[in-house]
Amino acid sequence: MTTTTHTTPDLASIVGGTPRRGSTTSTSVNPANPAEVVTTISLADAEIAAAAMEAASAAFVGWQNTSAPARGEVLQRAAHLLDERADTIARDLTREEGKTLAEALRETHLAAKIFRYYAAQALDQDGETYPSQQSDQLLFTRREPVGVVSVITPWNFPISLPSWKVAAALAFGNSVVWKPAEIVPRTAVHVATALSDAGLPSGVLNLVIGRGSQIGDVLVTHPAVAAVTFTGSTPVGQAIQATAAGAGKKVQLELGGKNPSVVLAGADLEHAARQISIGAFGATGQKCTATSRVIVERSVAAELTDRVKEHAGQWVLGDPLDAATTIGPVASDDQLQTVLGYIDRARQDGARAVAGGSRAEGALVDGYFVQPTVFVDVEPSHAIAREEIFGPVAAVLPVDSYEEAIAEANNTPFGLTASLFTNDLSLALRFTREIRTGIVRVNQATSGIEYHVPFGGTKASGHGHRELGKAAREFFTEMKTVYISGL
Ligand code: UN1
Repeated sequence: MTTTTHTTPDLASIVGGTPRRGSTTSTSVNPANPAEVVTTISLADAEIAAAAMEAASAAFVGWQNTSAPARGEVLQRAAHLLDERADTIARDLTREEGKTLAEALRETHLAAKIFRYYAAQALDQDGETYPSQQSDQLLFTRREPVGVVSVITPWNFPISLPSWKVAAALAFGNSVVWKPAEIVPRTAVHVATALSDAGLPSGVLNLVIGRGSQIGDVLVTHPAVAAVTFTGSTPVGQAIQATAAGAGKKVQLELGGKNPSVVLAGADLEHAARQISIGAFGATGQKCTATSRVIVERSVAAELTDRVKEHAGQWVLGDPLDAATTIGPVASDDQLQTVLGYIDRARQDGARAVAGGSRAEGALVDGYFVQPTVFVDVEPSHAIAREEIFGPVAAVLPVDSYEEAIAEANNTPFGLTASLFTNDLSLALRFTREIRTGIVRVNQATSGIEYHVPFGGTKASGHGHRELGKAAREFFTEMKTVYISGL
């Protein structure tokens, strides 16, 4: 909801350490109870976004010239503050995004770990020395920050995901303009506040809370921007890529997924069903790594489906602040309509829901709750088998062999993550080679990350770069080659 108002909104963008208010105001609501306004935000316009670029540009050299250990210490202190404030942060995160408090707490502590990891990465090797044609010459490479980085992040992991971009960018000496999704502004302000309380100089991180339609162009094309890192939908990412290419900017994209879990005869079906349920329904299925296709050998399809159905029915929908709840609502009315639209379309296409298949009823009818849903009688051509849904919905696709399974697993424009359930080591090894994804897992859910290894997808799920782990250095730095001679 956007209104023009004269009352002072709770939150605003932070540019050069100072709040900046635009002329439009938006409200964020609790997806478990949309009548409850969580916060009011003054939205940034293009002028505020440009001011953020100028502030980041002005702060860059000072931060680049801050020693790497000193930069790391700021990140360490920010990590400490995130841990210390985790209860407050997680409650706000849950109230504005809808995931359970347990999920929000885990995510907040994960963000702190990521800050610590990049604090240490700041001190890692950043170049190589080489022998030279000249015996008295010192010849080496060095990694340097790229400059001002635009960080554009989604609402589904509103603290861990921005942290892995922002912490890496800052660790390697860049300054940042960060646009979080406007439905999770409180979480974003918590991260920015932790960093400024930790001693990050003003202007090194600037927060612009606004709509992509109003400020996106500035974030991608402003002359001060060196690089853009984006996580979100494939259409938006591809539009950013086209604009960034025209403006000559470096781009990192982490986009959608249509991730398969392949279950072969002989697998531990109970284990597979549990992992599929976690992959499909954890975080309410709102993750680019969610399991959305279950490709199963026909001989075990009925038993696996029964077990997945049973696990789907065990999730407890409810107020995400309540400790008994294990699955929260989807994050917004837009999401609700999209997910329900896919469920309707699946039925029209002839698929049948064996679990869930509708919005939750009873006491939950006012919130954006969708039941964990499993469809059978799905054809590979159905939208439910091809398009990213971003909700708690999985489709079962039976196949007759490993060969058919791998062909079906790869039969998607996306290529983020995949998993295989098997007790056959040779097929497991073959799957890790033949699957066209950036991440592959054996006997586990498609979702989840370890922050010290690279993360990212191929095909329409990415753009060649990887984030997290040491791979982040590739994107957030540039190499300089240095020749030094004595006189
Ligand atoms: C996870 O699987 O825990 O936006 C993280 C996303 C991914 C992160 C997934 N970039 O869903």
